[in-house]
Amino acid sequence: MTRAATRPVAAALLALAAAALTGCSNFPSRQPPIWVWWDMKKQDKYKPQAESLYFADGRASRAPVAGALAQELYRPDAAFSTGINPDGAYVERNPLPITKETLIEGQRKFDIYCAPCHDRTGSGRGVVPAKAVWVPGNLHDERIVNFVDGELYHVISNGRRTMPGYRFQISENDRWAIVAYVRALQRSWRGTLADVPPELQSRIR
Ligand code: HEC
Repeated sequence: MTRAATRPVAAALLALAAAALTGCSNFPSRQPPIWVWWDMKKQDKYKPQAESLYFADGRASRAPVAGALAQELYRPDAAFSTGINPDGAYVERNPLPITKETLIEGQRKFDIYCAPCHDRTGSGRGVVPAKAVWVPGNLHDERIVNFVDGELYHVISNGRRTMPGYRFQISENDRWAIVAYVRALQRSWRGTLADVPPELQSRIR
C-alpha cells in the first residue's frame, strides 16, 4: 500500500477505537455498553427505593430515627407557627407587635399574595376571579370580620375549601403581618363618623 492509501485506513481505525473506548456508539443496542473507564457512571451508592443486602429489612431508604425532626419542621412555638393554641382553639390575638412597620410589611405581602384574587381592598374582585369561575370570599363579610386572628392565619396557611394554602410561600412572620393588615383593611371599611376625632368631624362630607 502506498503511504497515501494507508492514511484514511489509519484514521478510520483510530476513530473506531476511540468510539469503542469511550463507550460511544451510533448503533442502538440492548446490551449494556462496555465500560473501560467507569468514571462517575457507576458509584457506590443507593438510588431511592433500592434494595440493600446490608439491612435486615432489605430497604436502602431508612426511616428517620425516632424523634428526629427536619430543621424546618422544628417549631419551638407551635401557636405562632400554626395559629392554634395547645388546647386546640385558634390564637385570639396577633402575636406580632402591631406597629407601622408590621402593617407596611403586611400590606406589601397582601398585595403580592392575596390581591390577585381578593383585590387590594379585600372585596374579592381580583384579576384571577375576573378570568375564572372562582369566587373568593369578601374579607369584609361579617363572618370573616368576626374571625379571631388565629383563624385568619390558619386560612392563609392552609387554605379553605377552594382557596389554596400559602404556608410554603409566605413565612410565618409575614403571615401574621398579613393578618394585621387584613384587620386594618376591615377597619377601613367599617369606620363610622364616631371614629373620626371630634375636631375633624365637621370636615367630613
Ligand atoms: C388563588 C386565589 C386566592 C388567593 C391568592 C388567596 N385567596 Fe383567599 N380565598 C380564595 C377563594 C376562592 C376563597 C373562597 C373559598 C371558598 O369559600 O370556597 C377564599 C377565601 C378566603 C377567606 C375566607 C375563608 C372562609 O372561611 O370563608 C379568607 C379569610 C381569605 N381567603 C384570606 C386570604 C388571604 C389573607 C390571602 C393572602 C395570603 C388569600 N386569601 C389569598 C382565593 C384566594
